[in-house]
Amino acid sequence: MKIVTFGTFDLLHIGHINILERCKKMNNGDNTVIVGISSDKFSYEKKSRYPYFNENSRIKILKSLKFVDEVFLEESFDKKEEYLKKHNADVLVMGSDWEGKFDMYNNICKVVYLPRTPDISTTNIIETINNIM
Ligand code: CTP
Repeated sequence: MKIVTFGTFDLLHIGHINILERCKKMNNGDNTVIVGISSDKFSYEKKSRYPYFNENSRIKILKSLKFVDEVFLEESFDKKEEYLKKHNADVLVMGSDWEGKFDMYNNICKVVYLPRTPDISTTNIIETINNIM
C-alpha cells in the first residue's frame, strides 16, 4: 500500500520515528511510505516560527530513514487533495493531534489517525533547551 503522511519533522525525535515506523508496518505490510514535509514558509504559517532545520536539511534527513521511501515538499493545506492523488495514496496517516480534521479526504483514500507518542514534541525540545541555556 502507498501510505502518505505529512508534517514538519523538525529536530527529528522518537515520536517522528514511531509514526513513520507504524506507517511502514501498517497492516503487516511492507508499505511505500511517502512523506510530505512542510515547507519552511508553510511551517511558519502553521506554527508562527520557522523550523530550526531548513526544508532542504529536513528533506535530506527524512530521505535517509529506513521507514521512508519518498519525500516531497508540502506547500499548503489546500494542496492535500492534489498531493494524495498525485502520489496515488491508499492511506493518509495523521497523528491524533489532527483527529477528524482530514476526514474529507476519505473519498480519495482511507484516512487513519495514529496516537501520538506521549511526552515529546519539537516544541517541547526547544523549550527545554531554551530553559537550560
Ligand atoms: N508525532 C507523534 N508523536 C509525537 C510528536 C509528533 O506521533 N510525540 C507525529 C505528529 O502527529 C505528526 C508527525 O509526527 O503526524 C510530524 O509532527 P510534527 O508536527 O512535525 O512534530 P511535533 O513534535 O508535534 O512538532 P511541534 O512541537 O513543532 O508541533
